[in-house]
Amino acid sequence: MILNTELEYKGNLFPSKIVSYEKNLNVLSFTTENGVILEVTVRRDSILRFRFTTTGIFENDFSYAITKYASRGYNHLEVTENDDNYIITTTKLICHISKLDLRASIFDAKDNTLICEDELGFHWEESYEHGGDIVKMSKTAQPGESYYGLGDKPVDNNLKGKRFENWVTDSYAYGRDTDPIYKTIPFYTGLHNKKSYGIFFDNTFRSFFDFCNERRNITSFWAQGGEMNYYFIYGPKMSDVVVNYTDLTGKPHQLPALWTLGYHQCKWSYYPESNVKEITAKFRELQIPCDAIYLDIDYMEGFRCFTWSKEHFPDPKRMVKELADDGFKTIVIIDPGIKIDMDYSVFKEGLEKDYFCKRADGPYMKGKVWPGECYFPDFTRPEVREWWAGLFKELIEDIGVKGVWNDMNEPAVMDVPGKTFPPDVRHDYDGNPCSHKKAHNVYGMQMARATYQGLKKFAYPKRPFVITRAAYSGTQRYTSSWTGDNVATWDHLNIANLQAQRMCMSGFSFIGSDIGGFAEQPNGELYARWIQLGIFHPFCRTHSSGDHGDQEPWAFGDTVTNVVRKFIEIRYQLLPYLYTAFWRYAEEGIPILKSLVLYDQEDSQTHYRNDEFIFGEKILACPVTGPNQKGRRMYIPRGKWYNFWTDEIVSGGQELWVDADLDSMPIFVKEGAIIPKYPIQQYVGEKVIDELLLDVYYKLGKENSLVYEDATDGYDYIKGRYSLRDFKLLGKDNELIIQQHKSGKFITTYKTFKLSLHGLPFKISKVQVDNEEILFEDIKLNGDNTLVLNKEFTELHIMA
Ligand code: GLC
Repeated sequence: MILNTELEYKGNLFPSKIVSYEKNLNVLSFTTENGVILEVTVRRDSILRFRFTTTGIFENDFSYAITKYASRGYNHLEVTENDDNYIITTTKLICHISKLDLRASIFDAKDNTLICEDELGFHWEESYEHGGDIVKMSKTAQPGESYYGLGDKPVDNNLKGKRFENWVTDSYAYGRDTDPIYKTIPFYTGLHNKKSYGIFFDNTFRSFFDFCNERRNITSFWAQGGEMNYYFIYGPKMSDVVVNYTDLTGKPHQLPALWTLGYHQCKWSYYPESNVKEITAKFRELQIPCDAIYLDIDYMEGFRCFTWSKEHFPDPKRMVKELADDGFKTIVIIDPGIKIDMDYSVFKEGLEKDYFCKRADGPYMKGKVWPGECYFPDFTRPEVREWWAGLFKELIEDIGVKGVWNDMNEPAVMDVPGKTFPPDVRHDYDGNPCSHKKAHNVYGMQMARATYQGLKKFAYPKRPFVITRAAYSGTQRYTSSWTGDNVATWDHLNIANLQAQRMCMSGFSFIGSDIGGFAEQPNGELYARWIQLGIFHPFCRTHSSGDHGDQEPWAFGDTVTNVVRKFIEIRYQLLPYLYTAFWRYAEEGIPILKSLVLYDQEDSQTHYRNDEFIFGEKILACPVTGPNQKGRRMYIPRGKWYNFWTDEIVSGGQELWVDADLDSMPIFVKEGAIIPKYPIQQYVGEKVIDELLLDVYYKLGKENSLVYEDATDGYDYIKGRYSLRDFKLLGKDNELIIQQHKSGKFITTYKTFKLSLHGLPFKISKVQVDNEEILFEDIKLNGDNTLVLNKEFTELHIMA
């Protein structure tokens, strides 16, 4: 007979004392008296994984975030114990695990300073209603600690004092502080005493982070299900933390084609075909560079994915070809909702093969999106991803579409509470069946992955290009992304700046915003200022809902058109510089944009800066963020910088006023930099590059610069057909020396460099190339500013 039907409220539960310890190579297991197991895996000298179970059994160890290519291995691992702790020592860190309660404290192995310490540490609440536990972790914040990261949160760079939720959400016209929005990247970096570490909480359930919000000195994170499973990544350099997080969750699987770094034009929607052609023709007529044109949902027949509206696009293959002949790559949108319609082959096939998501009790997950009632593929099932990838054959191989834009993949559902699937929907989760509570945050990621697989296959031998709105950690391996439905306001220009920086420090550099704002319409001034910011974002696209008027570069009168052209031209000139930064990101995980704190964490002035950022390695940019401004104050990081427009040299470590009329913006170049530039082209490949311009910024002292190039598309670079130039600059009072080391088998089309010398403090009287003196006529020395050289030199001396 059952007497008591009340649920006993147990509150927080904690591990008790350790009763056994086991070491299996690099996996250390600690079991407590009350049956909690903590497994610490030493992945690298600077990376520890912490995993807890309260049931004595770990779940199947499966993660969508962690890449199989992640580096592993350590130089040293030793486990000792004293009365109170087990002590794990690697070359980089020392971790104490308390014998009393499993709490961890982590120290720098070099100087023994405390880096990160559990407060309550791991604890949990039983969740009878949903099954499983609410798993929690709390850590003590160190004095002066700052926090960064978490993906697309539309807030200031430093997260201290705030609380966040991670639940991928369609967020039309979100604003500052709206939370959560489109992406879930449960990774943050902590910084105190000039030392930095990261925490990646790899749990896909709805999760939360609290950075000293609830309690002033406590940082905590928790999730509504799953395991307490997190990676601790030690720096102490913040850039190393980000690099190691990116190594763990993956770098882009290949470089993007160079054209994807050009300018893109989008609107909801350009149709019919004549409208698309009008827009592209106008770009060429006005000589505003542009590489990509987008078709939003109206290109389809009744919003059915993989179909074309016969009325508006009677012959897509011809149109796409004509656009391509004019240098435009066509990119189309594909959403996850498949219209319920027995006469629609994609729907029929999905149904027959049982590929759509179902509710717990059997019915299909039915939801309304643009096409009306839809079913949704379960992208967490490998066969479904394969099927989905195959659906791109016609679009890519036959019609010639060059990129696919995945939208609404949170997944967004209209007219329902929560704007998404109900929690009981079932998913395969790659053979780990679960409910939507666990799969929600990765649904969009798996859709983008399936799309990527399709493009990779059918675009071959060219490189794939995908854009996604929803993402979880690791999505950067497959696709680029944009920040969703923002609004045409000045504050949103600020938010776009913050989001792009934040995404870059969260391992996801191929990011941009809807330039000018998606909802509502910007005035010309806002649009121009946003373009100025946008040309420094890895993904550079204007997009708008179109409800409030036009948003093309020429929509705001000649003054604005000229400003927009001027900045898009700068973007095109800087393509080899940006491509090099992208290569460093894809190769080493180095973020393309660096917030000032990431650039110079030792300067505490940078810890709360938001507007200024480093583009690549050497360019400092700062958008003008309000109306009627003729300049702005900004912080210049330490070191000496050249004003991009005037070559005036300023010393950093201070705030300065910088002039910037509407046709300008604050841009600086680090002294000693060598910046490669291409001629202005209307689209990538329009011109054969017959000379590489190198802007050389004199410095008294040393500086290194890289230039990476390859065939701009295709996979030959993987086989060694790339060209990497490593320039070492050494400036003396009366001499400038540049050494070049070249590697890779790719032969660039140009034969010469045109060096443009900035800030040279002396008059040139002699030039030596590879130990031979050169006649001034032979290098076309023009004043003391430019000279033309054979690209093959190894050592150049420019002397007073
Ligand atoms: C969503 C997207 C937006 C797109 C629109 C129509 O709002 O975020 O970019 O234009 O849907 O497809």
